[in-house]
Amino acid sequence: MSDNTFAKDIHKGLTAPLKHISSKYFYDDIGSGIFQDIMKMPEYYPTPCEFEILSLQGDQIINKLDFEKPFNIVEFGAGDGTKTRQLLKKLTERNIDFTYVPIDISKKAIGELKAGMYQQLPGLKIEPMIGNYFSMMEELSHSAIPALYLFLGGNIGNYEKPEVDNLLGDFKKSMRPGDQLLIGFDLQKNPATIRCAYDDPKGITKAFNINLLHRINRELGGNFNTSQFDFYSHYNPLNGEVRSYLVSLVPQKVHIAQMDRCYDFERNELIWTELSKKYTINEINQAAETNGFRVIGHFLDCKHYFTDSLWQI
Ligand code: AVJ
Repeated sequence: MSDNTFAKDIHKGLTAPLKHISSKYFYDDIGSGIFQDIMKMPEYYPTPCEFEILSLQGDQIINKLDFEKPFNIVEFGAGDGTKTRQLLKKLTERNIDFTYVPIDISKKAIGELKAGMYQQLPGLKIEPMIGNYFSMMEELSHSAIPALYLFLGGNIGNYEKPEVDNLLGDFKKSMRPGDQLLIGFDLQKNPATIRCAYDDPKGITKAFNINLLHRINRELGGNFNTSQFDFYSHYNPLNGEVRSYLVSLVPQKVHIAQMDRCYDFERNELIWTELSKKYTINEINQAAETNGFRVIGHFLDCKHYFTDSLWQI
């Protein structure tokens, strides 16, 4: 992604009536590292839940796969691969012929992923791609090799309803008959459990959000004083939405060199940074149906906190 896109998005977001920075900008090398720390927090249940699903139900998932020839396993937003490796391990043990194609925007994350995979699964065929989903998806749509697409971790939760339909539409366009999609959704549950996962006592999630401001300072020549911002996160159990914000603690002006201008913040003004939508099984079935997918199965953890759902076109 060019600096210019980042600069334009930030300018647009900071001049909107409700200021906004897209959650896709969390994941520079530093932010990807903080997200690794989030996944290790006791409060952040999605990681162990999905780990459990892929460890204990790998065989059931594989039994529902529908590939005769060698196929690709294309993973969007691969991260460190610890969870995915549970599924890949089962496939290798069953002598199934596939190539793992992880896609991530962080070059550092891909490097670490590759090293970890080689160490844990020496025989694995792996062909990583560095870039954003959309350009990679375009590239993959020309491939003749059938594919299982993985969109795990609940990343879909970051998208607003219309964007979910766009994204699933894009997936569908790059898929051929017989291709499958395993997609992770965080499920609605006790609201207190969700609140703790997104507002942890050690402030790791706060640091994850504050890194957005550091990133603007580093890459665009901003002069955000990050001690003048706080973090606020809110879960609404009526619609399943966690929305997270940075809060300006004082009236302040921030200069960004690349834009050659200042941005004004009022005391207590918000910068909205993330949506993390929690789904019901009904909503998942709806999303599949309205976008032309058939649900093959939902694979839930024992607490029913999370599902990896297998879809086919
Ligand atoms: C990587 C999008 C799944 O929404 O749970 C974690 C990111 N944000 N804590 C999520 C995140 C705050 C995460 N996803």
